[in-house]
Amino acid sequence: MSGDLAGLRVVVSAGPTYEDIDPVRFVGNRSSGKMGFAIAAAAARRGATTILVAGPVALDTPAGVERRDVRSAAQMHAAVMAALPADVYVGAAAVADFTPAAFAEGKIKKTPGDEGLVLELVRTADILADVATHPRRPRLVVGFAAETGDLEANALDKLARKRVDMVAANRVGVAGSGFEADDNTLHVLDAGGGRVLGPAAKTTLADALLDLVAARLR
Ligand code: CTP
Repeated sequence: MSGDLAGLRVVVSAGPTYEDIDPVRFVGNRSSGKMGFAIAAAAARRGATTILVAGPVALDTPAGVERRDVRSAAQMHAAVMAALPADVYVGAAAVADFTPAAFAEGKIKKTPGDEGLVLELVRTADILADVATHPRRPRLVVGFAAETGDLEANALDKLARKRVDMVAANRVGVAGSGFEADDNTLHVLDAGGGRVLGPAAKTTLADALLDLVAARLR
């Protein structure tokens, strides 16, 4: 395979995770998976052996990509760890931070007089942080940050806290960016400083982000 990423193994996570409450309900989020799928497509096109760990999304598998479908944060964690070692990990998935403390085997029913329901949630394992501190750590670990405000400050904090090499922050909760949109703007931060990619189509941004990745690996 030719291309500037030939010979590299790239693992990408994408999409949301669904945390089941009972057989018919789950806790999820609005990630479409488009950004992560675009990154996986571009990595494969540029010659990398590309593993895409995908949460529940309605997207076709990009050409040349090996796809592993998962549903929950725990399953995504296991699938990502199983895909190591790798040269690059890009954590584009919107992994649930919390999951129900217990799964109800039967559908939770309401009874007369119920005015509310308290759902107990517990923290999920942090896949990105676990990859970044793994004994066989990829040479480059890239995290994403979905923020509604204070983009750069939160991304800087994430860079240090999760020991990742690069953070791509994007704004969510506004039209034309973040979850579900086809376009996005990425504020990319690493130890060398920050730069803004876009606004552009997520497919264009995927290549721009991989240009930065390739430059870091040279
Ligand atoms: N992530 C992960 N495992 C988790 C949670 C998040 O790997 N259990 C990864 C995501 O794939 C993404 C990054 O961490 O690369 C996002 O970090 P997170 O701290 O979840 O971001 P926010 O949700 O934006 O942060 P916060 O909850 O602190 O606002």
